[in-house]
Amino acid sequence: MLVILLAPVELRYEFVSSLIGLGKLSIVPCLPLPAATVFYRRVGEPLETAMKLEVNGQVREVDAPDEMPLLWVLRDLCGLTGVKYGCGMAQCGACTVHLDGRAVRSCMLPVASATGKKITTIEGLSPDGSHPIQKAWAEIDVVQCGYCQSGQIMSAAALLAEMPDPSDEEIDRAMAGNICRCGTYQRVREAIRRASSMRRAQR
Ligand code: FES
Ligand code: FES
Repeated sequence: MLVILLAPVELRYEFVSSLIGLGKLSIVPCLPLPAATVFYRRVGEPLETAMKLEVNGQVREVDAPDEMPLLWVLRDLCGLTGVKYGCGMAQCGACTVHLDGRAVRSCMLPVASATGKKITTIEGLSPDGSHPIQKAWAEIDVVQCGYCQSGQIMSAAALLAEMPDPSDEEIDRAMAGNICRCGTYQRVREAIRRASSMRRAQR
């Protein structure tokens, strides 16, 4: 193991790629090169066909295999690092983005299934941080370390779009898949209530 850790980054990637190829790893660990690189090597041939995606209102062309998780396409190929990698298994919510307005876990979503749909990341939620959820988040000072927060905000925004005046139970149910290691749950709930009342006042 020590030899692997001390090996040059390129060799470490080759090693990880071989484990994936042998089916010994089902997720790609965080290493200091874009995860996309691992995927390219696993596939083993250069990619030729660009895929068109609509991200935050802009059409982007990405060179990615169909099965690459949307999370990596957004982070590594589009440079949208607001979306976070947490568990890689649709369990923590850190990677939440909107697909046609619905909250989805991008770590498990093959990029091919996002073509022809509107993808929204935290960077595209509003041009200037003026979405009621973003304003309420700042007002209540929800954030602690921040790692989970773009996922929390995207889930909360999708909830309010679907349900403008959610009860506490509905908030808890909708946000149950977003884990926060810092335990900001009470403030998250309070901020969603606050955003809901801001929207009511604007009507
Ligand atoms: S990284 Fe996607 S749910 Fe945890
Ligand atoms: S604010 Fe730190 S994990 Fe949620």
